[in-house]
Amino acid sequence: MIRTLYWENNRLFLLDQTKLPHTIEYVECRTYVDVIDGIKTMKVRGAPAIGVSAAYGMALGELAGEDLNVIGDEIKSARPTAVNLFWAVDKVLDLVSRGKSAVDVAIEMEKDDVAINKKIGEYGNSVIDDNDTILTHCNAGALACAGYGTALGVIRAAHEANKNIDVICDETRPVLQGARLSVFEMQQENIPVRLIVDGAAGHMMQKGEVDKVIIGADRVAKDGVANKIGSLMVALAAKRYDIPFYVAAPMSTFDFENNIFDTIIEQRLPEEVLCINGKYISKKQTNVENPAFDIVESDLITGIITEEGIKKPL
Ligand code: MRU
Repeated sequence: MIRTLYWENNRLFLLDQTKLPHTIEYVECRTYVDVIDGIKTMKVRGAPAIGVSAAYGMALGELAGEDLNVIGDEIKSARPTAVNLFWAVDKVLDLVSRGKSAVDVAIEMEKDDVAINKKIGEYGNSVIDDNDTILTHCNAGALACAGYGTALGVIRAAHEANKNIDVICDETRPVLQGARLSVFEMQQENIPVRLIVDGAAGHMMQKGEVDKVIIGADRVAKDGVANKIGSLMVALAAKRYDIPFYVAAPMSTFDFENNIFDTIIEQRLPEEVLCINGKYISKKQTNVENPAFDIVESDLITGIITEEGIKKPL
């Protein structure tokens, strides 16, 4: 399994996910500012991977003698939606105030993330049947975490348990995490995979080609989850055709304080929508809306697969 990130000689190396699947290249982060840049430009993306990178950003700040409270706020401002970013910075601050080093906390967080995902995989495997076709949206795989993955971790666990499964990946416009990343991960593991355009998900469900949907989350609250734009349409179609719709997420993605509609939905650059491979597909001056996430309400969700078991949404 390809490494999303690694820590070596007091530097953080991030796999540049903007270049996948064709180029495998790591960028070296020497300062916490490099880490912020990596998160903002989506070289590293996916809620748990953003969290672990943020912790390493704090570690780099500590090594450079920065004020961790100040840089913590800066790191938190890199992207607004994924809870893990805030959770990771706060966890580092808390443990540092109790005498740990930020470097040790980050290294531990990276290890824990993989162990947590394997636990999610174990629980998730219990809802997968032999011969299931599973549809997923965006990339909630090893590349979105320190390794193994949440939604794709469940798929990996079912595959490792020798279940005969196949996967349908939504391409996930505009950044194409499904086409570029999830398909890549499945191909690396020899898990049968088909790529569809986002608009084909409802059609595949209507034809009876989908047995389960599993997605990841950037925020889980008591009344719903926030995940990659397009998740809501997938959930609505799944409800229409009675297809179980699961969310796989670690407890570090849970927000126990706010309602899901309080989530700040990141708006990204118009160019992501207007351009394909650097070429404008509409006039440059076209008005664009580019929300990166949407909200799936609880009543559309069958279960939330966590490292503590499968929770029923309220
Ligand atoms: O914009 P991205 O690529 O960071 O969005 C990622 C997602 O929406 C994932 O589904 C989510 O972060 C869960 S990753 C385990």
